[in-house]
Amino acid sequence: MLGIIGGTGLTKLANLKIKRRQIIRTPYGEPSGPLTFGDIGGHEIIFLPRHGNGHTLPPHIVNYRANIWALHSEGVQDIVAVATVGGIQEHLSPGTIVVPDQIIDYTQARKNTFFDGGDLPVKHIDFTQPYSTQLRSLCLEAGRASQEALIDGGVYACVQGPRLETAAEINRLERDGANIVGMTGMPEAALARELDMHYAAICPVVNHAAGRASSQHGIKYENVGEVLDQTMERVRKLIERLVIAHAC
Ligand code: HPA
Repeated sequence: MLGIIGGTGLTKLANLKIKRRQIIRTPYGEPSGPLTFGDIGGHEIIFLPRHGNGHTLPPHIVNYRANIWALHSEGVQDIVAVATVGGIQEHLSPGTIVVPDQIIDYTQARKNTFFDGGDLPVKHIDFTQPYSTQLRSLCLEAGRASQEALIDGGVYACVQGPRLETAAEINRLERDGANIVGMTGMPEAALARELDMHYAAICPVVNHAAGRASSQHGIKYENVGEVLDQTMERVRKLIERLVIAHAC
């Protein structure tokens, strides 16, 4: 079964025919909200908005372990996560959608593993390729089907937040090889791998990163809202295609 994790601007999937909502309790506490069970075009999926239904949970407070555990316990094997980002290079301008293929993790003090001395024997997951090749291909196929020119590949820098970066921090991320910057990609991707789930991300760029191009003199959040609305409409269509491609 396919699970969709919605990010900022995607707390609802308009095209999802909802069947039921269910609160799932996990050994790691409460997920961001009840899981939504439903179908898109007759294909069953489970949806979970990462920041809660009212978008009240900031990235560093999200209970990533409970979210991934809950989806897994309900039979989700494949997760496509939507996560907004800042574009570090000029061509990664607001409205661009990236399907990243690599991650650098700069987060601190998040609960980032299921193997932390409890009942489970320690496992060191291979994370050379953090995203599922098959699921990334499906996202790109859905992009072609919905006439979206998705960017195939990119290095996602996951920062702690919730504040945005300084211009010098963005320069450093670029020197490290990053293309996009966001706050929620980790530990989500690693936790999914720990449970042997497939995971891919769709990353809408909603602003140029701090100190870059249109954000040279600061990030204007009023512009972000507008881009977010327009881009999420496209993301919803993309997800519809993705669900169809996933079912084939
Ligand atoms: N930085 C970090 N996270 C983000 C940004 C950004 O510029 N835009 C959206 N999420």
